[in-house]
Amino acid sequence: MSDARGHLDLQPPDERVALVERLDQYRAIAQGAIADLEWEVASAKLLPATDMTMAGIVKHLAWAEDRWFQGRLLGMRMPPPWDAPGADDPDQAMRLASGDSVPKIVELHSEACDRSRAALSLCDSLDTVAKVQSFGRGPVNLRWILVHMIDETARHAGHLDLLSDCLRVEPSKELTVPLNQAQRWPGGRGLVLETPRLLLAALLPQDQAEIYRLYASPEVARNLARLPARFTMGHALEFVNAAQAGLIGGHAYTLGVFLRDSGVFVGICALRLPAREPGLDEQERAEAAGLGILGYSVLPEHWGRGYAGESCARLVRYALEDLALSVLQASPRCDNLPSARVLLRLGFTLAEDGVEEQPLAGGPAHLVDRYVLQHRRLS
Ligand SMILES: CC(C)(COP(=O)(O)OP(=O)(O)OC[C@H]1O[C@@H](n2cnc3c(N)ncnc32)[C@H](O)[C@@H]1OP(=O)(O)O)[C@@H](O)C(=O)NCCC(=O)NCCS
Repeated sequence: MSDARGHLDLQPPDERVALVERLDQYRAIAQGAIADLEWEVASAKLLPATDMTMAGIVKHLAWAEDRWFQGRLLGMRMPPPWDAPGADDPDQAMRLASGDSVPKIVELHSEACDRSRAALSLCDSLDTVAKVQSFGRGPVNLRWILVHMIDETARHAGHLDLLSDCLRVEPSKELTVPLNQAQRWPGGRGLVLETPRLLLAALLPQDQAEIYRLYASPEVARNLARLPARFTMGHALEFVNAAQAGLIGGHAYTLGVFLRDSGVFVGICALRLPAREPGLDEQERAEAAGLGILGYSVLPEHWGRGYAGESCARLVRYALEDLALSVLQASPRCDNLPSARVLLRLGFTLAEDGVEEQPLAGGPAHLVDRYVLQHRRLS
């Protein structure tokens, strides 16, 4: 028996107790890893090079319990949900379905473990042989099943640990770490800033096509003064390179905005620190000290879902709290009402209206409104 604090016996009385206690310990660890998580986190793909999610792992463990104790040991039909077409499969069990939620998966696993314990109680001996053959060679015995389930559950408990560690990353620290040493996120990005629905992360060359789609979109481009006349794929790659150089140099934080759960690119959120730009003389640097210029764009198909507001709020907090900037500025065109709305909601106020700004692409000057946010407003 384990004691009240969950410590296992140091001297289990026999082999069966030792195996069952150890399995129960890892079952509890697996369930505990997701029990308090929001679904967005439990269902997020948090590590590079794997589609594993924390909820998917626990769901898969529920399947493994039923496969070995119900399907093989007792020779029973697989219980729901594994009796649906295609569901009795380890990879399928790892995938999440539309009705899944954290409580449902915890319950699924818990019920499967109860069924396994009931199956175990029917067997007097660890030598009990499974009703159904495995590996095309013959039936395994109960001893093999218990060892296998400890192996399986402990291995996945390790994965869950690793994924939980991703959630404990202190995001603000990552931004100052060189990109090649930064915490990795799917696709090898530096993990930078997090919000409930979004990740703001360093851009990579693989984002070129999405950057192109964003800035080649006339609805987006018409509102931006710093874009070339006809934005090309070549410009998109230059943009990615400049974004990486800005992060490494610490003079611009041009971050991709991605949906946490799917990794889908939704736009760009950027902060320029003119005082840190190379090539400034001392006076120019002093004049720009403490200033951050905020910019943001969202792919039109994602407009109106609060992504600009949510991503900018995080970057603004980073700018004021971590970079200790004293004033932020943004300059939407006078007729850009959604952008003005985003700024007002962030606490910016209108400082100057109808300022002329010359577009990089040439043509008539844009009329922009200058919004500012002083740090003390948030304190
Ligand atoms: C500005 C932009 C980033 C907003 O992105 P978004 O993700 O749709 O923004 P949000 O959903 O966070 O917020 C949009 C706000 O504008 C409001 N809005 C949308 N259309 C509006 C309109 N026609 N008139 C007034 N307000 C409008 C929304 O109601 C929302 O305000 P609320 O949060 O108070 O309800 C997006 O429109 C865009 O990419 N535009 C082109 C590039 C650009 O203008 N960048 C800013 C340069 S300064």
